[in-house]
Amino acid sequence: MIVAIDGPAATGKSTSAKLVARKLGFTYMDTGAMYRCVTLSVLRGHISLTDEQAIKLLLKDVDIQIEMIEDALIVRLNNEDVSMLIRKPKVTSHVSAVSALPQVREHMVTIQRQIGENKDCVIEGRDIGTIVFPNAKFKFFLVADDFVRAKRRQLDLKAIGEEKSIDDLVEEIRRRDTYDSERSHSPLKKADDAIELDTSQLSIEEQVDFMVNRVKNY
Ligand code: DC
Repeated sequence: MIVAIDGPAATGKSTSAKLVARKLGFTYMDTGAMYRCVTLSVLRGHISLTDEQAIKLLLKDVDIQIEMIEDALIVRLNNEDVSMLIRKPKVTSHVSAVSALPQVREHMVTIQRQIGENKDCVIEGRDIGTIVFPNAKFKFFLVADDFVRAKRRQLDLKAIGEEKSIDDLVEEIRRRDTYDSERSHSPLKKADDAIELDTSQLSIEEQVDFMVNRVKNY
């Protein structure tokens, strides 16, 4: 069974999706982390986003492994632990452009379908309920107020030793939403049959309970 959790950045998707997976005993997949790994590789290789051949070669060489160890999500890129590196501002500021490339999306979607197929899986991203698993049994679409999201992002960054002002973060979040929503290939969009959940006033526990109860009471 697939539980798809989509929505814009900093709506509490990652934190709640991990807990929903744990409570249901399902595998957890963070597709944003996968796009972040590709972005890190592109940056390290100084690859131009218009060089289709170079991107094709890079995708062939990229091996991404994602594993939950206790409460921590460990992301390995070709066997290197990049869990912290992929959350750095440099990666964040380039990930929308990289993830808008049709070549990159096609490759990632194929991998995501292979991982999720025939498994009980909670998958979070932007296009899970619309493109990756349009037949997912449960689809949630999380939204939240921009300032609440900026505050949450500020706390996430603090945890990895980065400082940013709320104004800068609001601007960054809005820019990324616009980019993710307006790209021509599988844009960020609520699936018609997704349940929308505004998390602005909710604690993580309340978000998790809402989703787990929906699944359990089905
Ligand atoms: O959830 P996140 O912030 O880690 O995602 C990083 C970026 O990856 C986000 O700006 C858009 C992109 N993304 C995507 O295009 N499709 C997904 N399924 C997941 C993420």
